[in-house]
Amino acid sequence: MPENTSNQKSTRRSFLDLVLGASSVACLGSILYPVIRYLKPLPRAGGVGPTRLTPEELAKLEKEHFVIVPVSGKRVLILQNAAQEILAVDAKCTHEGCTVQYLPGESVIWCACHNARFDLDGRVLSGPPPRPLPKYAAERQEDGGILIVAERRQSE
Ligand code: FES
Repeated sequence: MPENTSNQKSTRRSFLDLVLGASSVACLGSILYPVIRYLKPLPRAGGVGPTRLTPEELAKLEKEHFVIVPVSGKRVLILQNAAQEILAVDAKCTHEGCTVQYLPGESVIWCACHNARFDLDGRVLSGPPPRPLPKYAAERQEDGGILIVAERRQSE
């Protein structure tokens, strides 16, 4: 009988050792993964150079009046204003980097994180962003496609 109790203790101890070991590995992984991702970031999406909107992106632009697309590793907000002009600005807020969106009803670009507003040229209208959103060159082509040029232009 005492041998049986000793066996049970040994089995319970092995199980607890296993749980403790697995927890330690998981804890270490949750600490190391962000450090590794910081030191070696994932490759950025999108090609380099001028980018043409895909048919799906064009459809979304027509429907929602804006679309966010990858251009040379940056996320660019393409919008169509009330005069049907195509404008493009960096989609990353200059405050803390949240993704901005276009509010067609108010004709402003809005950052939901701290309720900042930008005009359609990327200039700050209200809120904490310290700088305007960088602008991109965007042009509608003869075949109806839209081309975004990666080189940024300074917002005035
Ligand atoms: S991150 Fe956009 S206003 Fe703060």
